[in-house]
Amino acid sequence: MKILVAFLSLTFCLNFLQSNAQGDMPTDFLSKDFHLDRRAKLREKLPANSVAVFFANPVRNRANDTDYMYHQDPNFYYLTGYKEPHAMLLVFKDKQTAANGTRYDEIIFVQPRNAMAEMWTGRRLGDQGVKNLLGFEQSFNNTEFKKYNVDFSKFDQVLFYDFFNDVRDNPSDSSDLYTLIEQFKVKVNYPTKDQLTIAREQKKNNLNTTALNTYMSELRGVKTKEEVEMIRMAVRVSCQGQIEVMKAIKPGMSEREIQGVHEFVYKKYEAEDVGYNSIVGAGHNGCILHYIENYKPEVSSKELILMDLGAEYHGYTADITRTIPVNGKFSPDQKAIYDIVLEAQEAAMKKVKPGTSFAELNQVTKEVVNKGLKDLGIIKSENENHLYYPHGCCHHIGLDVHDKGLRDGMQENMTFTIEPGIYIPENSKCDPRWWGIAVRIEDDYRVTKEGYEHLSSMAPRTTEEIEATMKLPSPLDNFILPEINKGRE
Ligand code: GLY
Ligand code: MN
Ligand code: MN
Repeated sequence: MKILVAFLSLTFCLNFLQSNAQGDMPTDFLSKDFHLDRRAKLREKLPANSVAVFFANPVRNRANDTDYMYHQDPNFYYLTGYKEPHAMLLVFKDKQTAANGTRYDEIIFVQPRNAMAEMWTGRRLGDQGVKNLLGFEQSFNNTEFKKYNVDFSKFDQVLFYDFFNDVRDNPSDSSDLYTLIEQFKVKVNYPTKDQLTIAREQKKNNLNTTALNTYMSELRGVKTKEEVEMIRMAVRVSCQGQIEVMKAIKPGMSEREIQGVHEFVYKKYEAEDVGYNSIVGAGHNGCILHYIENYKPEVSSKELILMDLGAEYHGYTADITRTIPVNGKFSPDQKAIYDIVLEAQEAAMKKVKPGTSFAELNQVTKEVVNKGLKDLGIIKSENENHLYYPHGCCHHIGLDVHDKGLRDGMQENMTFTIEPGIYIPENSKCDPRWWGIAVRIEDDYRVTKEGYEHLSSMAPRTTEEIEATMKLPSPLDNFILPEINKGRE
């Protein structure tokens, strides 16, 4: 009897979770037709008689029994819309015939539904949900893969991304990613590490672990209309974060508090996450390009603060940097450096159109920065080797912050950043008055037929615009929390 009651309650839970699942979700995700079309476009690129195989991202453990929030592999998401772990996608170049005569050219294997697991860790679509909501005709529970009759040896090429061997085995779960990969390796005769090098050199097998990345870069580098809308949303939300911080910032705030204001704004507008770890560095901390600890307890009045953050909206991320004076007014030295960086960005913007390469944009920003640094006496010659601008200026944005895409010739609907910077750390070989000044200005753009759309133009960018915004009142001016004692009473 007890077993029957337990069974009925679990069945009830499963149905309850299923029936409520849709109403609780945002409804503006990419459509299943988008993903279907992307698979069709990939299929066009695949070589004759081949199959492409993709795996979902692994679940990442944070510590003990706590995992990081799951994030799907961007290729997998792009092709399927599936946001859960422990899954595998096969895209065939040609139609295949199943034992019952069904013709198909794609299959997805997904984690099975499980009432108990769903009560603990969240709803699952299962094979039926994937059929209904994501539009797959051939979908199976991943536990079916082992006995699924697919003869990989008959293909001229089996394409997949090689494995990093960083997937945890849950020995008590036969429906995990580790098991799927192990079974795949058996089915394709995946070579041992030593055999792999020989096999690659001698082309002894039909496994191709390099071509997919080229195809995916070609596809993902040029955004569809729906993707541009997602990126626009991520960018708008991130710009609003910058604006709210400009209004709210005060000397004495901590870097984390400032990070928290940006990220609160993201959540307020339904962005599910940040697209990368937020960088909020005051003074010298701004010189650390990817400073993510954000540990400074009090930002001081005379400092600049460099804020490089991007909201992730339904998988797509913005990447925007603003550098502002904590007290609301750039000092003459801060402004001198800021205006060089701004001029470098403007010079690169002018060059954007189909056909331009990232290298050309990079070159023009370096020229402006070098000339500016020389004019200020920070370097002696424009050809001097220095570390004040140690990074490139451009990268694609999309499902990854450093998104896939070709860098040689821009095409309409590529989305990318221009982000020159100047960073002058302590003990640099220049007048100490410049030490601790770090400026990056980073904006997001879309290539149009003849030029570009400046996606992040709503975030104040010139020193005048920033100073004017910083004078505006903030809704957080009255958000004053009580003191909490750090030590014992
Ligand atoms: N936020 C990382 C970058 O700007 O590339
Ligand atoms: Mn960037
Ligand atoms: Mn950035």
